[in-house]
Amino acid sequence: MQFFVDTAVVAEIKELNDYGLLDGVTTNPTLIAKSGREFKEVIAEICSIIDGPVSAEVASTQSEGMIKEGELLAKIGANVVIKLPLTLDGLKACRHFFQTGIRTNVTLCFSANQALLAAKAGATYISPFVGRLDDINIDGMELIRDIRQIYDNYDFETKILAASIRSANHVKDAALAGADIATIPATVIKGLANHVLTDKGLEQFTKDWTATGQSIV
Ligand code: E4P
Repeated sequence: MQFFVDTAVVAEIKELNDYGLLDGVTTNPTLIAKSGREFKEVIAEICSIIDGPVSAEVASTQSEGMIKEGELLAKIGANVVIKLPLTLDGLKACRHFFQTGIRTNVTLCFSANQALLAAKAGATYISPFVGRLDDINIDGMELIRDIRQIYDNYDFETKILAASIRSANHVKDAALAGADIATIPATVIKGLANHVLTDKGLEQFTKDWTATGQSIV
């Protein structure tokens, strides 16, 4: 399973990249607004740090505008992936980019039928939002399982990018459900390494090793 970090904060991206834990980055207009930085400048900086896919979302809601914006964003770096909303206009733009060889991430997916349409339009990635479905008492992970089955039934190549991931359990459940990728906040990615028994065991090993008086180097 690949890990993308869901952030526009360059320091977080650098830190995770240094740990070797990062396969890509996703951003959205909310994350860009939170970063307080100029959109194209921050995308260019992220592309200079990481070779993997970097999703940059269009702002237009009409297909013509999405295509124009997407073409500009794609020029920022070879690893830029154009993020498009799951609307009919977004699907039309997705088809255009599929035909012109530009990768897309179709976002704001909340149903299996929407995911089916995105795959038919040639999306590189589909982003089903697990956490936002959970927020309204709909099982977000069931959507991941449904999409996995549908894509496998028809050999669709669109990758399932589990999004709106909020917890370590979401990551584990998305992996069990067969998501190809999860896009995860940096704090959640780092938290995956934590276990109280790891801390306790390490404390004991350190204590016992110190008592031997030995040194490895
Ligand atoms: C996905 O690409 C989105 O940026 C993101 O995962 C949304 O997460 P949220 O529902 O926690 O805002």
